[in-house]
Order: sequence, then C-alpha cells, then structure tokens
Amino acid sequence: MNGTKGFFSELEKAQDARGILIAAPTEVPMIESLPFTPEIAERTRPIYERAKAAIPAAEWPLYAPYVDAINRLKRERNAVILAHNYQTPEIFHGVADIVGDSLQLAREAQRADADVILVSGVHFMGETAKILNPTRTVIVPDARAGCSLAESITAADVRALRAKHPGVPIVTYVNTSADVKAESDVCCTSSNAVKVVESLGVPRVIMIPDEFLAHYVASQTSVEIISWQGHCEVHERFRAIDVERLREGEEGLLVIAHPECPPDVIAAADFAGSTAAMIDFVRDRAPQRVVLLTECSMSDNVAVQFPNVAFVRPCNLCPHMKRNTLPKILRALETLQDEILVEEDVRVRALAAVERMMAIV
Ligand code: 13P
Ligand code: SF4
Repeated sequence: MNGTKGFFSELEKAQDARGILIAAPTEVPMIESLPFTPEIAERTRPIYERAKAAIPAAEWPLYAPYVDAINRLKRERNAVILAHNYQTPEIFHGVADIVGDSLQLAREAQRADADVILVSGVHFMGETAKILNPTRTVIVPDARAGCSLAESITAADVRALRAKHPGVPIVTYVNTSADVKAESDVCCTSSNAVKVVESLGVPRVIMIPDEFLAHYVASQTSVEIISWQGHCEVHERFRAIDVERLREGEEGLLVIAHPECPPDVIAAADFAGSTAAMIDFVRDRAPQRVVLLTECSMSDNVAVQFPNVAFVRPCNLCPHMKRNTLPKILRALETLQDEILVEEDVRVRALAAVERMMAIV
C-alpha cells in the first residue's frame, strides 16, 4: 500500500498546471495520505481564507490535513517554522510562523526561543539557524536541499583567496556552508551587501561566492570588489532579451530583478533587490503590473498581499527549495530529522562572521 503516492500524483498534477514541480514521489518519505474531514475543513478554514488567492480550491483538501497536523505538532513540540519567500504557498501561508528573505530568517533565528527550529528553505539556511542557536534542535525537511552558490566554493578556496590577497577582508554571502563562513571576516545577504562592504572602511574587499551579486555591489559603491565565479542556477537563467520581450506591449510594467541575476538583466530592470526588498518596492510603488525576476513561488506568495497588482509570471524554479513539502515537514517534526549539526569549532568561527553582519544591519 502506498498512500503517499496517491497524494503526490494528485499534487503533482495540480502543481504542474501552475508550472511548479515538486520532489519526485520516489523521494517522498512514506507517509500515509491523510483524510480531509469536516473537522479539518473547519479548523483550517481561516488559513485557507487568507491563502486562497495562491492555492486553488481543488488542491486544499490535499494540503489541509497536513497543515492541520503540522500546526498541532508544532505546538506540542514548542517548534517554530521559518520559511523562505521561495517556499510553495501551502507551506508559506499554511504552516510558517515566520517568512522572509535570508536576512529576516537569520534575524528571526537569532531571536527564536522555541525548543525546535524547523527551517523550510535550503541547507545553508538551516546551518545559519544552528550557528545562531547551538542549544536548540534545528531541523530541515530535506537535508539534500542544497544551493549552487553554496556548492561553488570550499573552505580551502577561501584560504587560498586570503593567501593571494593578504589583508583584504572577505565578505561572504550567507548562501555558503558553515565551513566557508568560518573562514570569512563578515557575512552579508543581498539585502545588506552594499552596507556591509562600505562598513569595513577599506578600498578593496573580496566578495564570495556570487559573481553577479558582487558585480551589482560594485555598481553601487566605490569600494573595489574582487569576486568569485559562483552563480545561482535559478537567477543566472534570466536574459536581458526576456526583459525586452516582457516590456513589449506592456506599457507601465514594473520589472524587478534579484541581484543574483546577470548584470545585463539588472541593467534592464527598474529595480534590483532581495526578495524582501522586492515586496517593499511593490508596496511603495503600487504598480498595476509587475514582474519579479526570481524564483516561481515568490510571485504566488506576494500576490496574496497585493490583490490589486497583476503579477506577470515568467520565473525559474529552484529545485532545492522545491524539495520541501508538507509531508516532509510533518515527518521532520515527528522524527526531529533531518537535524542540522555544525562542529563547534566551525560554528564559533562562522558565528563571528554572522554576528559581525548582524551588528551592521
Ligand atoms: P534573499 O531572500 O535573501 O533575497 O535570497 C534569495 C535566494 O536566492 C535565497 O536562496
Ligand atoms: Fe541557491 Fe539560487 Fe536556489 Fe537560492 S534560488 S537556494 S541561491 S540555487
């Protein structure tokens, strides 16, 4: 018997219709499909009312039993769920306690007083939470959720860069492993990268690993930036020609790009900013039509907040973010796996770089 398979084949069909794929059924832990009862429908109604702009009514009976079970188990475990803006709407609106960009999640992880912190994002986000909360149990729904940026550089690479550029501070994007953070002087996110670089009061910095973010920061400051050739596999796929085509016949379309996009895409956009900065920009400018050049779930989630804004939705999927699903979140809370552990010596050194960033923003 395999209740999970039934659940997922339905879910995949529904999500395919929106162009969103999730982890293949073979990767899903064996969890029975949960029945959608009238009691669950009643208990989850307020959640669905808030999220209905992002979740088709036909899908809710598949999600609601998981939403209900997760929210109950969360209370029993004294757990908090931090979810990145790229999580699918049923996670973002259904079970997350805190949502945000990488910086907001790191801040909230610093403040968390729960016994268990579940990070629905990617591995490095779980590590950041653990670095900040060594005494708490930090879990992720799927420890295999990586990141092409984090995988582009190792601690040995950072040591080699330091040897090549003695005395030049190393500013490290949070999209890196704890080992890499431990070799760094200070961390940054796409929200605060310019501020962090300028706070150092030096003429040159090494900024790793995102070449495009480094290029964007260099365009905003007089500090010389030495970069690394890491790329986000999601944002590097956008092209300036896509922006031109989007604007054709779409007068007044506001184009917002993530700083992980290639430089010509950022140049063609009206604004570049982190996922949180994108939300602020939409709020401030109140455009009629907007396109967010970033991961697909971002527009789905943000559109709920702005019912009067039309979101044009060409987007790229992050396969790592999409490893997270409600059944995996439920399994993680039940088993307290996959647990994130960081070796203490590495954690303490990585903490120094993260805390230095936190003191700046
Ligand atoms: P932010 O949410 O900080 O903009 O990060 C984007 C991203 O790609 C995270 O992996
Ligand atoms: Fe990494 Fe890009 Fe996915 Fe973010 S969107 S987790 S930077 S691969």
